[in-house]
Amino acid sequence: MHRDEASIEVSRLSKFYTGREGRIQALKELTLTIKRGEIIGLLGQNGAGKTTAVKLIMGFLSPTGGDIFFQGKRLNAADPRRKIGYLPESFRANPNLTVYEYLRYLATLAGAPDHHASHEAIMDLLHQVGMHTVPNRRISDLSKGMGQRVGLAQAFAGDPDLLILDEPTSGLDPIGKGDIIEFLLSMKQQGKTIFFCSHILSEVERLCDRIGILVEGRLKFLGPVDDFLRKWDVATLDDGFKREVRCATS
Ligand SMILES: Nc1ncnc2c1ncn2[C@@H]1O[C@H](COP(=O)(O)OP(=O)(O)OP(=O)(O)O)[C@@H](O)[C@H]1O
Ligand SMILES: [Mg+2]
Repeated sequence: MHRDEASIEVSRLSKFYTGREGRIQALKELTLTIKRGEIIGLLGQNGAGKTTAVKLIMGFLSPTGGDIFFQGKRLNAADPRRKIGYLPESFRANPNLTVYEYLRYLATLAGAPDHHASHEAIMDLLHQVGMHTVPNRRISDLSKGMGQRVGLAQAFAGDPDLLILDEPTSGLDPIGKGDIIEFLLSMKQQGKTIFFCSHILSEVERLCDRIGILVEGRLKFLGPVDDFLRKWDVATLDDGFKREVRCATS
């Protein structure tokens, strides 16, 4: 594949942390390409290295080794990621603002064309994440799931080309989860590229063109769900995932 067709290209990305227990290698030579317009879901147990991978791509951590290219250009950790929308694992918005004020402020800051920061655009965004009935509620007064919806909306504010979402449906009720999956599918139809981490295998199955499976920092599989099921000769992603983890850790 030509580098221009890639949204993000990650090559042998590694990360060691130095903590009280010494050095831990959280990510081991991760190589993957996220193509323009596709949805990739990254799966892995707690501690597998998903958030580390996301933070490296976003430049919040410096890699111990490896390279990241975005739309054909090499990215250093310090380079701004203006065209990448991001939902962190633990999202916290400014509690003093209302939902509407917060999103409008972000869309303006992101330097998006005026029509993305217009009243209509903000209300449309709120509608898509199911928050249009409470635009004037203060962030401090939102429930956990409502806060997560605002987190998703802020990742989309400013019309980014690529979305990196660390557990986008965490904290949402079943209907909320379904709404967000529909929303992500509609974003894909609009040509957005999405890379997200999740523990919810059914949503990954529904959404993703390709899945990545991380086990103890190493990418053990990258490809379409069907190929993964064939690899393990299983009917469900759940069974395949358990086999992959068991095989890699035994
Ligand atoms: N700042 C840090 N200092 C030391 N070790 C860290 C640090 N951040 C993460 N780690 C370790 O790196 C490993 C990978 O953590 P990471 O948060 O990337 O996992 P994850 O796959 O996102 O897990 P989860 O599903 O629980 O969110 C874990 O062993 C974790 O303890
Ligand atoms: Mg994580």
